[in-house]
Amino acid sequence: MALPSPEQVITGQRQDWNRVAGGWEKWDRFFDEQMAFLNHRLVADARLHSGLRVLDLGSGTGYPALLAAQAVGSNGSVVGVDLAEHMLAVAEKKATRLGLPNVTFRVGDVTTLPFESASFDAVTSRFCLMFLPDIPKAAAEIARVLKPGSWLAAAVWSVPENNPSISLSMAAVKQVIDLPPTDPMAPGIFRLAQPGDFAGMLEGAGLGDITDQEFLGEWSYGSTEEYYMSLMEIAAPIQNLMATLSEAQRQEVKHLILKAASQFQRGARITFPLAVRMVSGRKPR
Ligand SMILES: C[S@@+](CC[C@H](N)C(=O)[O-])C[C@H]1O[C@@H](n2cnc3c(N)ncnc32)[C@H](O)[C@@H]1O
Repeated sequence: MALPSPEQVITGQRQDWNRVAGGWEKWDRFFDEQMAFLNHRLVADARLHSGLRVLDLGSGTGYPALLAAQAVGSNGSVVGVDLAEHMLAVAEKKATRLGLPNVTFRVGDVTTLPFESASFDAVTSRFCLMFLPDIPKAAAEIARVLKPGSWLAAAVWSVPENNPSISLSMAAVKQVIDLPPTDPMAPGIFRLAQPGDFAGMLEGAGLGDITDQEFLGEWSYGSTEEYYMSLMEIAAPIQNLMATLSEAQRQEVKHLILKAASQFQRGARITFPLAVRMVSGRKPR
Protein backbone atom coordinates (compact mmCIF):
# COMPACT_ATOMS: atom_id res chain seq x y z
CA MET A 1 0.00 0.00 0.00
CA ALA A 2 1.34 3.46 -0.97
CA LEU A 3 2.38 5.71 1.91
CA PRO A 4 0.26 8.86 2.30
CA SER A 5 1.88 12.05 0.99
CA PRO A 6 3.35 14.51 3.54
CA GLU A 7 0.38 16.83 2.91
CA GLN A 8 -2.06 13.98 3.61
CA VAL A 9 -0.24 13.14 6.85
CA ILE A 10 -0.38 16.78 8.01
CA THR A 11 -4.08 17.11 7.12
CA GLY A 12 -4.85 13.81 8.89
CA GLN A 13 -2.91 14.87 12.00
CA ARG A 14 -4.73 18.20 12.19
CA GLN A 15 -8.13 16.50 11.88
CA ASP A 16 -7.24 13.71 14.33
CA TRP A 17 -6.00 15.94 17.14
CA ASN A 18 -8.72 18.55 16.68
CA ARG A 19 -11.27 15.73 17.00
CA VAL A 20 -9.89 14.58 20.38
CA ALA A 21 -9.26 18.07 21.84
CA GLY A 22 -12.43 17.85 23.98
CA GLY A 23 -11.21 14.52 25.38
CA TRP A 24 -7.82 16.04 26.23
CA GLU A 25 -9.56 18.88 28.07
CA LYS A 26 -11.73 16.38 29.97
CA TRP A 27 -8.70 14.28 31.00
CA ASP A 28 -6.40 17.25 31.60
CA ARG A 29 -6.26 16.85 35.37
CA PHE A 30 -5.37 13.19 34.95
CA PHE A 31 -2.45 14.11 32.65
CA ASP A 32 -1.25 16.74 35.08
CA GLU A 33 -1.32 14.28 37.94
CA GLN A 34 0.23 11.35 36.08
CA MET A 35 2.73 12.86 33.67
CA ALA A 36 4.08 16.07 35.20
CA PHE A 37 7.42 14.36 35.77
CA LEU A 38 8.04 14.31 32.01
CA ASN A 39 7.54 18.06 31.75
CA HIS A 40 10.02 18.62 34.58
CA ARG A 41 12.51 16.33 32.87
CA LEU A 42 12.16 18.30 29.60
CA VAL A 43 12.57 21.63 31.41
CA ALA A 44 15.75 20.27 33.00
CA ASP A 45 17.17 18.75 29.79
CA ALA A 46 16.53 22.02 27.90
CA ARG A 47 18.38 23.86 30.72
CA LEU A 48 15.54 26.37 31.10
CA HIS A 49 16.04 29.28 33.44
CA SER A 50 14.79 32.81 33.95
CA GLY A 51 14.76 35.06 30.89
CA LEU A 52 15.03 32.48 28.07
CA ARG A 53 12.93 32.52 24.88
CA VAL A 54 11.63 28.97 24.33
CA LEU A 55 9.89 27.22 21.44
CA ASP A 56 7.67 24.21 22.22
CA LEU A 57 6.83 21.94 19.28
CA GLY A 58 3.45 20.22 19.11
CA SER A 59 2.24 21.76 22.40
CA GLY A 60 -1.26 20.32 22.16
CA THR A 61 -3.06 21.34 25.34
CA GLY A 62 0.08 22.98 26.75
CA TYR A 63 2.65 20.33 27.69
CA PRO A 64 5.40 21.22 28.45
CA ALA A 65 4.89 24.85 27.27
CA LEU A 66 3.06 25.94 30.44
CA LEU A 67 5.71 24.59 32.80
CA ALA A 68 8.41 26.11 30.55
CA ALA A 69 6.65 29.49 30.87
CA GLN A 70 6.83 29.17 34.65
CA ALA A 71 10.51 28.19 34.47
CA VAL A 72 11.57 31.16 32.32
CA GLY A 73 9.45 33.61 34.32
CA SER A 74 8.22 37.06 33.35
CA ASN A 75 11.61 38.00 31.81
CA GLY A 76 11.35 35.09 29.41
CA SER A 77 8.74 33.83 26.97
CA VAL A 78 7.44 30.63 25.36
CA VAL A 79 5.88 30.10 21.95
CA GLY A 80 3.95 26.85 21.47
CA VAL A 81 3.31 25.63 17.92
CA ASP A 82 0.76 22.98 16.95
CA LEU A 83 -1.30 22.01 13.91
CA ALA A 84 -4.53 21.59 15.86
CA GLU A 85 -6.20 24.86 16.80
CA HIS A 86 -8.72 23.14 19.11
CA MET A 87 -5.89 21.62 21.18
CA LEU A 88 -4.25 25.07 21.38
CA ALA A 89 -7.54 26.67 22.47
CA VAL A 90 -7.43 24.41 25.56
CA ALA A 91 -3.78 25.38 26.16
CA GLU A 92 -4.69 29.08 25.94
CA LYS A 93 -7.49 28.69 28.50
CA LYS A 94 -5.07 26.97 30.88
CA ALA A 95 -2.43 29.70 30.41
CA THR A 96 -5.03 32.33 31.34
CA ARG A 97 -6.16 30.32 34.36
CA LEU A 98 -2.54 29.95 35.50
CA GLY A 99 -1.84 33.68 34.97
CA LEU A 100 0.92 33.14 32.40
CA PRO A 101 0.99 36.09 29.95
CA ASN A 102 4.48 35.08 28.76
CA VAL A 103 3.25 32.06 26.74
CA THR A 104 1.61 32.33 23.32
CA PHE A 105 0.31 29.60 21.03
CA ARG A 106 0.43 29.61 17.28
CA VAL A 107 -1.08 27.26 14.69
CA GLY A 108 1.66 25.89 12.46
CA ASP A 109 3.58 22.91 11.14
CA VAL A 110 6.75 21.90 12.95
CA THR A 111 8.44 20.98 9.65
CA THR A 112 8.25 24.56 8.35
CA LEU A 113 8.79 26.81 11.34
CA PRO A 114 7.70 30.42 10.80
CA PHE A 115 10.61 31.86 12.81
CA GLU A 116 13.94 33.54 12.06
CA SER A 117 17.16 31.56 12.31
CA ALA A 118 18.90 31.58 15.74
CA SER A 119 15.86 33.13 17.43
CA PHE A 120 15.32 30.71 20.39
CA ASP A 121 17.34 29.91 23.53
CA ALA A 122 15.80 26.43 23.80
CA VAL A 123 13.39 24.06 22.04
CA THR A 124 11.20 21.48 23.80
CA SER A 125 8.75 18.89 22.50
CA ARG A 126 6.65 16.14 24.09
CA PHE A 127 5.03 13.31 22.10
CA CYS A 128 4.83 15.14 18.76
CA LEU A 129 7.87 14.49 16.57
CA MET A 130 7.08 10.86 15.72
CA PHE A 131 3.90 11.97 13.94
CA LEU A 132 5.71 14.10 11.35
CA PRO A 133 6.01 12.96 7.72
CA ASP A 134 9.56 14.35 7.42
CA ILE A 135 11.34 14.21 10.78
CA PRO A 136 14.87 14.97 9.45
CA LYS A 137 13.42 18.19 8.00
CA ALA A 138 12.02 19.10 11.43
CA ALA A 139 15.45 18.34 12.97
CA ALA A 140 17.02 20.75 10.47
CA GLU A 141 14.41 23.37 11.38
CA ILE A 142 15.14 22.91 15.08
CA ALA A 143 18.87 23.36 14.42
CA ARG A 144 18.12 26.47 12.35
CA VAL A 145 15.98 28.29 14.94
CA LEU A 146 18.18 27.47 17.94
CA LYS A 147 20.80 30.02 18.96
CA PRO A 148 24.37 28.64 19.03
CA GLY A 149 25.07 26.90 22.35
CA SER A 150 21.39 26.29 23.16
CA TRP A 151 19.53 23.01 23.80
CA LEU A 152 16.73 20.91 22.35
CA ALA A 153 14.95 18.44 24.69
CA ALA A 154 12.38 16.06 23.24
CA ALA A 155 10.25 13.19 24.57
CA VAL A 156 8.94 10.47 22.23
CA TRP A 157 7.40 7.10 23.06
CA SER A 158 9.86 4.23 23.49
CA VAL A 159 9.28 0.69 22.23
CA PRO A 160 5.81 -0.94 22.35
CA GLU A 161 7.00 -3.84 24.57
CA ASN A 162 7.71 -1.30 27.33
CA ASN A 163 4.46 0.64 26.82
CA PRO A 164 1.66 -1.89 27.30
CA SER A 165 -0.95 0.81 27.92
CA ILE A 166 -0.58 1.72 24.23
CA SER A 167 0.40 -1.56 22.64
CA LEU A 168 -2.25 -3.78 24.25
CA SER A 169 -5.02 -1.89 22.47
CA MET A 170 -3.32 -2.34 19.10
CA ALA A 171 -2.77 -6.02 19.87
CA ALA A 172 -6.50 -6.35 20.70
CA VAL A 173 -7.51 -4.82 17.35
CA LYS A 174 -5.10 -7.18 15.56
CA GLN A 175 -6.77 -10.16 17.26
CA VAL A 176 -10.10 -9.13 15.74
CA ILE A 177 -9.19 -7.92 12.23
CA ASP A 178 -6.26 -8.38 9.86
CA LEU A 179 -4.23 -5.19 9.82
CA PRO A 180 -1.56 -4.61 7.18
CA PRO A 181 1.92 -4.81 8.73
CA THR A 182 3.01 -1.41 10.09
CA ASP A 183 5.67 0.28 7.98
CA PRO A 184 8.40 1.11 10.53
CA MET A 185 9.21 4.29 8.59
CA ALA A 186 5.63 5.60 8.53
CA PRO A 187 4.68 8.37 10.96
CA GLY A 188 3.10 6.95 14.11
CA ILE A 189 3.34 6.51 17.89
CA PHE A 190 6.44 4.27 17.77
CA ARG A 191 8.24 5.79 14.76
CA LEU A 192 11.07 7.17 16.97
CA ALA A 193 10.99 4.41 19.59
CA GLN A 194 14.34 2.75 18.87
CA PRO A 195 17.58 4.00 20.45
CA GLY A 196 19.35 6.30 18.03
CA ASP A 197 16.31 6.96 15.79
CA PHE A 198 15.85 10.62 16.60
CA ALA A 199 19.36 11.11 17.98
CA GLY A 200 20.77 10.17 14.56
CA MET A 201 18.56 12.74 12.85
CA LEU A 202 19.69 15.44 15.28
CA GLU A 203 23.29 14.51 14.61
CA GLY A 204 22.56 14.75 10.87
CA ALA A 205 21.15 18.24 11.47
CA GLY A 206 24.42 19.31 13.12
CA LEU A 207 23.55 19.19 16.83
CA GLY A 208 26.15 17.92 19.30
CA ASP A 209 26.33 16.72 22.95
CA ILE A 210 23.46 14.36 22.10
CA THR A 211 21.93 12.14 24.78
CA ASP A 212 19.35 9.43 24.12
CA GLN A 213 17.91 7.67 27.15
CA GLU A 214 14.96 5.45 27.88
CA PHE A 215 13.24 7.00 30.89
CA LEU A 216 10.94 4.67 32.84
CA GLY A 217 7.85 5.55 34.82
CA GLU A 218 4.31 4.42 35.57
CA TRP A 219 0.81 5.73 35.15
CA SER A 220 -2.28 4.44 36.80
CA TYR A 221 -6.04 4.39 36.47
CA GLY A 222 -8.87 3.81 38.93
CA SER A 223 -10.23 0.86 36.90
CA THR A 224 -9.93 -0.92 33.54
CA GLU A 225 -13.13 0.89 32.44
CA GLU A 226 -11.56 4.26 33.23
CA TYR A 227 -8.46 3.28 31.23
CA TYR A 228 -10.61 2.19 28.28
CA MET A 229 -12.63 5.40 28.35
CA SER A 230 -9.54 7.63 28.37
CA LEU A 231 -7.97 5.61 25.55
CA MET A 232 -11.03 6.09 23.37
CA GLU A 233 -11.30 9.80 24.14
CA ILE A 234 -7.69 10.96 23.80
CA ALA A 235 -5.73 8.50 21.65
CA ALA A 236 -6.37 9.71 18.10
CA PRO A 237 -4.44 6.83 16.42
CA ILE A 238 -6.47 4.21 18.36
CA GLN A 239 -9.72 6.02 17.57
CA ASN A 240 -8.83 5.79 13.88
CA LEU A 241 -8.36 2.03 14.15
CA MET A 242 -11.63 1.57 16.07
CA ALA A 243 -13.51 3.58 13.41
CA THR A 244 -12.71 0.88 10.86
CA LEU A 245 -14.54 -1.80 12.91
CA SER A 246 -18.18 -2.90 13.02
CA GLU A 247 -20.08 -2.45 16.30
CA ALA A 248 -19.70 -6.17 17.08
CA GLN A 249 -15.95 -6.02 16.42
CA ARG A 250 -15.65 -2.90 18.62
CA GLN A 251 -17.33 -4.75 21.49
CA GLU A 252 -14.97 -7.68 21.01
CA VAL A 253 -11.93 -5.36 21.01
CA LYS A 254 -13.23 -3.63 24.14
CA HIS A 255 -13.58 -6.98 25.90
CA LEU A 256 -10.00 -7.94 24.91
CA ILE A 257 -8.60 -4.57 26.02
CA LEU A 258 -10.34 -4.74 29.42
CA LYS A 259 -9.10 -8.31 29.92
CA ALA A 260 -5.50 -7.44 28.99
CA ALA A 261 -5.56 -4.28 31.15
CA SER A 262 -6.79 -6.24 34.18
CA GLN A 263 -3.41 -8.00 34.27
CA PHE A 264 -1.96 -4.68 35.45
CA GLN A 265 -4.09 -4.52 38.60
CA ARG A 266 -1.76 -3.43 41.43
CA GLY A 267 -3.66 -3.05 44.68
CA ALA A 268 -6.71 -0.88 44.05
CA ARG A 269 -5.44 0.57 40.75
CA ILE A 270 -4.50 -0.41 37.22
CA THR A 271 -0.83 0.60 36.98
CA PHE A 272 1.03 0.44 33.68
CA PRO A 273 4.77 0.78 33.23
CA LEU A 274 5.69 3.42 30.68
CA ALA A 275 8.89 4.10 28.78
CA VAL A 276 9.74 7.38 27.15
CA ARG A 277 12.76 8.11 24.98
CA MET A 278 14.31 11.39 26.13
CA VAL A 279 16.58 12.89 23.51
CA SER A 280 18.54 16.10 23.88
CA GLY A 281 21.21 17.89 21.89
CA ARG A 282 22.95 21.22 21.66
CA LYS A 283 23.67 23.53 18.75
CA PRO A 284 27.45 24.03 18.53
CA ARG A 285 28.71 27.48 19.55
C1 LIG B 1 0.04 13.38 21.50
S1 LIG B 1 -0.23 15.08 21.21
C2 LIG B 1 0.96 15.75 22.37
C3 LIG B 1 0.61 17.12 22.85
C4 LIG B 1 1.47 17.67 24.01
N1 LIG B 1 2.81 18.00 23.60
C5 LIG B 1 1.52 16.68 25.15
O1 LIG B 1 2.56 16.06 25.41
O2 LIG B 1 0.48 16.52 25.82
C6 LIG B 1 0.57 15.35 19.65
C7 LIG B 1 0.43 16.78 19.16
O3 LIG B 1 1.32 16.97 18.03
C8 LIG B 1 0.66 17.82 17.11
N2 LIG B 1 1.27 17.65 15.77
C9 LIG B 1 1.32 16.54 15.01
N3 LIG B 1 1.97 16.79 13.86
C10 LIG B 1 2.35 18.10 13.91
C11 LIG B 1 3.05 18.97 13.01
N4 LIG B 1 3.49 18.53 11.82
N5 LIG B 1 3.25 20.24 13.38
C12 LIG B 1 2.78 20.71 14.57
N6 LIG B 1 2.11 19.94 15.45
C13 LIG B 1 1.89 18.65 15.13
C14 LIG B 1 -0.79 17.37 17.18
O4 LIG B 1 -1.67 18.34 16.65
C15 LIG B 1 -0.97 17.11 18.67
O5 LIG B 1 -1.49 18.22 19.35
